[in-house]
Amino acid sequence: MENFTIHNPTVLHFGKDVIRKLGSIVNSYGKKALLVYGKGSIKNNDIYTQVMQQLTAADAEIFEYSGIKSNPVVEDVDAAAALGRQNDVDVIVAVGGGSVIDSAKIISITIPVKHSGWDFYSDKARPQKAVPLIAVLTLAATGTEMNMFSVIQNHHVGRKVGYGHRLMYPAHSFLDPAYTFSVPADYTAYGIADLIAHCLENYFGKGKATLTDRFIFSIISEAVERAPKVLNEPTNYEHRAAIMFAATAALSGLTSFGKGMGDWGVHSIGHVLSLLYDVPHGASLTIVYPAWLRFHKKELNVQINLLGRAVFGTQSADDAIAAFEKFFQNIGCPVRLPQAGIGSEKKEEIIEAMKHNGVQGSHHKFTPQQMEELLELMF
Ligand code: NZQ
Ligand code: ZN
Repeated sequence: MENFTIHNPTVLHFGKDVIRKLGSIVNSYGKKALLVYGKGSIKNNDIYTQVMQQLTAADAEIFEYSGIKSNPVVEDVDAAAALGRQNDVDVIVAVGGGSVIDSAKIISITIPVKHSGWDFYSDKARPQKAVPLIAVLTLAATGTEMNMFSVIQNHHVGRKVGYGHRLMYPAHSFLDPAYTFSVPADYTAYGIADLIAHCLENYFGKGKATLTDRFIFSIISEAVERAPKVLNEPTNYEHRAAIMFAATAALSGLTSFGKGMGDWGVHSIGHVLSLLYDVPHGASLTIVYPAWLRFHKKELNVQINLLGRAVFGTQSADDAIAAFEKFFQNIGCPVRLPQAGIGSEKKEEIIEAMKHNGVQGSHHKFTPQQMEELLELMF
């Protein structure tokens, strides 16, 4: 088992109507709030209205920045940070999925400084302080609501990378499963795939931690069992709550205790696909994971077999991999690049971007030659 430290300062409010506490919590930080959200889904359901009611009741002065795109970009981070800096905001309220909350994390450390938020990702700057961040989650997937990570794209330098710092934990996160009723079937499935991928990245990490492995099997089993149900009944509160809790649990620390930092090779390749072709994050992972598992089948035979047995009741590594692939397909996720509209003529471009982004697992390394072999398995 690898050494580990547990420290997670986020206060998580989970359940029906938890938004009622938002106003008083905003008030405890001050009167000026930067409200950050995406392309408008929160205006098509009732979420924007409910958040505004809370902010108005708190007598907050509100500065809005909207339009954060899925697979977020640094331009929005810098523009929103400028708005927050100009108005000397006391608190940030981010309402949305991973893209909005990840952007808000970097906005929170960019407001106090004069440079671009990208400087944190490119190691040119270290954060000194952060504007407190309150997250209102509307999509179950990334676990960003209770972790210190953020992933942003910069098309000028052709990179999508993650960055983590303890100042980036949200101070409070509000998770009302009913807020995810309106998430369409495709993004519901991508979110489920993402949370499973977070379990797998940690499972294939370095240390031997059997209790953590059992947490991992339980979270994946919960997701596999609930997935068809939630897709069938998207407004069923219990199904949405189970998935939302599973997504938070999958990347809040629980699945990595004693496993080192996890592997994250699959994510690093998935980020390249999102960067180049705007593939939704979860969909990029369902393309890469079956290939990655097949590629590592010999080396990881025992581990894959154990995983398959615990989750699907399969009896071999081959059957376990087939079961994961079938599950991803059944919930409507792509498992090969052409299913995401990416043809074999793109191979060279993908390899170049993989090299440029330095894709790599932290535990299971691959050479440039192996990158090409892995890519072949995605067609
Ligand atoms: O733009 P809006 O209008 O908000 O619409 C979004 C977007 O189109 C929509 N949506 C969100 N909540 C909704 C809804 N539609 C209807 N009803 C609702 N309640 O869903 C679309 C996708 O949203 P997005 O935030 O992009 O999805 P997700 O939560 O999957 O976040 C993906 C981003 O998170 C990063 C990914 O790389 C990607 O950039 N990740 C962040 C991690 C972290 N911070 O720990 C870890 C992950 O592995 C991941 O890398
Ligand atoms: Zn992910």
